[in-house]
Amino acid sequence: MRIDKYIGNSTHYSRKELKVFFKKGLVRLNGEVVTDIGKHINEETDEVSLSGEVIKYSKFTYLMLNKPAGYISATFDKKFPVVTDLVPEEFSHLQLFPVGRLDLDTVGLLVLTNDGDLAHRLLIPKSHVPKTYFVKSEKPLTEDGIKVFETGVDLGDFTTIPAKVEKLSEKEAHLTIFEGKYHQVKRMYEAIDNKVVYLKRVKMGELELDETIEEGKMRPLTDEEIKKLMNNE
Ligand code: URA
Repeated sequence: MRIDKYIGNSTHYSRKELKVFFKKGLVRLNGEVVTDIGKHINEETDEVSLSGEVIKYSKFTYLMLNKPAGYISATFDKKFPVVTDLVPEEFSHLQLFPVGRLDLDTVGLLVLTNDGDLAHRLLIPKSHVPKTYFVKSEKPLTEDGIKVFETGVDLGDFTTIPAKVEKLSEKEAHLTIFEGKYHQVKRMYEAIDNKVVYLKRVKMGELELDETIEEGKMRPLTDEEIKKLMNNE
């Protein structure tokens, strides 16, 4: 692997910045200064450092986005802004994409990555990764409605796996579902003659939304959070 790719994948520096680092002699390979940006290295055995700091190789990047309303969960759309428009410059070379979809008006936890295998494994129907949403509804959530959710809702094209409901107030609940069908939560509420007026994803498997991330902002997952994401498989 080329040394510039190794550093580019593992850090958030742009190609332009990397060129400057090489020129300034800040990059070392096994202790020796390297100025050849295209030098081939062995990512398993070689030690690469930048300004004296050893760079651990990370093949993929995982970011937690607190998705705002008004963005499509895609990398391109003809009509609306997309979540990848929110990716800060320092990550823009990493070709990130969202893991799964939240509706245009849904907010909250969305992981962006360039790890296609992981995204695939989390999203295949049989994975049944639990996803928890904070839901505000137009009308109070009734005991009968909760029972329907906890039994499984016949949505016509499929019946949902029994969901978990934690009622927070008359019109607010945490709802955990085990599939990720199109508009699933909204359709479940419609099936009990109610309507979702606000929807926020707060958890995916064991990975929880960091509420300190402002809407529209993102940060890399910690090693612990990456493990939680992987354990979802
Ligand atoms: N269910 C919905 O209805 N919308 C979402 O964005 C996610 C789950």
